[in-house]
Amino acid sequence: MPRNPNCNRCPLSLTAKSVCVWSEGGPPAQIMFLGRNPGYDEDAQDRPFVGRSGQLLRNAAHAAGLSDEEIIFTNVVKCLSPENRPPTTEEQLACRPYLEEELVAYSPRFVFAFGAEAIAFWTGKIPKSVLALQGERWEIDGRYVFPMPHPSWVLRQGGPPDRPSLAGREFQAQIQAHLAFIRNLQNGDGGVAPGGRPRVVLCRTMADVCAALDDLERCERVAVDTETRGLWWAPD
Ligand code: URA
Repeated sequence: MPRNPNCNRCPLSLTAKSVCVWSEGGPPAQIMFLGRNPGYDEDAQDRPFVGRSGQLLRNAAHAAGLSDEEIIFTNVVKCLSPENRPPTTEEQLACRPYLEEELVAYSPRFVFAFGAEAIAFWTGKIPKSVLALQGERWEIDGRYVFPMPHPSWVLRQGGPPDRPSLAGREFQAQIQAHLAFIRNLQNGDGGVAPGGRPRVVLCRTMADVCAALDDLERCERVAVDTETRGLWWAPD
């Protein structure tokens, strides 16, 4: 079921200016950003996540190291609701086939689910507390789903427009943490440093060890895997 600008599966099509605001991005992007439904700006421009909360989201994603080309932006419900109220369960169900179609078409390996409705798409129920789910990572239908607060919630926490608020920084840190996990998988599993294979340094002398430690101090990120063998001070 591709985009249907003549959709009449629910009453939202009677009030929205842009009917069935479709996803932006696509393969080879592996990461889907899933929101609730278009707001006023998205309805006016016929594009997902282009208003204030979309801008906050895009800024946080860029700051975390993601480019727009890596992301598929889309929503659970494809039309603006009257006064931007939360879409009803019936509206979410009526729109479901569109998102299911997008999931088949793009086959994203990773989905960031922003807000209660996006999370409910995966769990079947609106969560009691979205914040309590932060940091979780679920494997559903062969993909990873990351429950996240909605960027509009982050916006409502206030703060100066030119500087991320505490909630904004936490939001960005969450994206960054999930992105580190994603990069590890994209680079071939097993704690691989972003952008490449792990660098192995063989130290034969104490001078080698000191040089390696100096080197380590200059690294931005470090993963440690300690192997021990023949511990002469612990015979067992
Ligand atoms: N909020 C959403 O959930 N989606 C959009 O596209 C814009 C705002």
